[in-house]
Amino acid sequence: MKGMGFMSGNNSQVVLLTGASSGIGKATAEWLMERGFHVYGTSRKAAGIKDGQPFQSSPSGGFIEMIPLDVSSEASAENAVRTVLERERRIDVLISNAGMGIAGSIEDTSIQEAETQFDINFFGALRMIRQVLPVMRKQGRGRIIVVSSVAALISIPYQSMYSASKSALEALVEALRHEVAPFGIKACLVEPGDTRTGFTSSRVIAEAAGEDSPYYGRFRKSLGRMEHDEQNGAPPEKVAGVIHGMIMRKNPPIRKAVGLGYKTILILKRLLPSWLVEKLVGMLYA
Ligand SMILES: NC(=O)c1ccc[n+]([C@@H]2O[C@H](COP(=O)([O-])OP(=O)(O)OC[C@H]3O[C@@H](n4cnc5c(N)ncnc54)[C@H](OP(=O)(O)O)[C@@H]3O)[C@@H](O)[C@H]2O)c1
Repeated sequence: MKGMGFMSGNNSQVVLLTGASSGIGKATAEWLMERGFHVYGTSRKAAGIKDGQPFQSSPSGGFIEMIPLDVSSEASAENAVRTVLERERRIDVLISNAGMGIAGSIEDTSIQEAETQFDINFFGALRMIRQVLPVMRKQGRGRIIVVSSVAALISIPYQSMYSASKSALEALVEALRHEVAPFGIKACLVEPGDTRTGFTSSRVIAEAAGEDSPYYGRFRKSLGRMEHDEQNGAPPEKVAGVIHGMIMRKNPPIRKAVGLGYKTILILKRLLPSWLVEKLVGMLYA
C-alpha cells in the first residue's frame, strides 16, 4: 500500500471527528467506517452513546458512534474526549472539521459576530487539540488533521472573518507540528475548495449587511457567486478521500489542497506577482 500508515495493518484506529452530522464530516465518517475505523463523530444535536448497537456499522468492523459536542464549549470538548477514552482507552486520530462561515463586509461585521466565527472555527479546533494532546503524548503517537480551507491562503472579500479564522488555524498547525513531533504526534492541514455541503445554507449573514448597507449590492453579488460555486463544487467524498490519505501516510505533508484546480491556484499564488493575484481575486469576488 502506498505510504504505509503509522498503524497500517490495523485499521481499527480510533478517530474523533468533529462536525460529523453533515457535509465533509459525514462523508469522512462514512468513508473511514467502510475501511474499518472506529469513528466517534460529533454533532451538537447528537443524543450520545447508548448501550447496544452503534449508530452505524460496516462489515469491515468499522463503525460510527455519534456523540454530542459543541466546540465552542470547553466542558463539552472535555466531555467528548472523556467519552471516547472510556470506550476505547485511546485516540489515534483527531479530525478537527466542525466549522461555519459568517459573511458580510468588514465594516458590517460586528466584533461579536467576528468573535463567534473565531470561537467556532479557530478556538473550537484549539479546544479539541488541547484536549487530545495529553492523551496522544502519553500514547507516544497520534495524528491531528485540521480541516482548513483554500480561503485561508487566498482571502476572499465579504468572507474576511472566515478567511482570517482559517489562516489562524494554518499558523497554529505550522507551529504545532514542531512542538509535537518529538512526542510522535503528526499534525497537518487539509484545504478543501468549494464543496457541496450544508455549509452554504448554514452560512450566517452579518446583521448589518442588509439593504441599508453601502456594501449591499456588491456583497449580494459576491455572495451569490460564492453560493453558486459551493453548490456546484466537489462532492464531500473527495475531501474524505484526501483526509483518509493524510491518516495513512507515514509522514503527512503540512498541508494538502483538495483537487488539482485548487492546487494549481495555490501554486500560481506563490509564483504570480501579488498585484496580479489581487486583481484576479477582485475580478471574481469584489
Ligand atoms: N463546503 C465548502 O465549500 C468548504 C470549503 C472549504 C472548507 N470547508 C470547511 O469544511 C468543514 C466542514 O464544513 P462542511 O462544508 O461540511 O459544512 P456543513 O455541511 O455545514 O457541516 C458543518 C459541521 O460542523 C458542525 N458544527 C458547526 N458548528 C459547530 C459547533 N459550534 N460545535 C460543533 N459542531 C459544529 C455541524 O454539526 P452540528 O450543526 O450538527 O453541530 C456540521 O456537522 C468546515 O470547517 C468548513 O469551514 C468547507
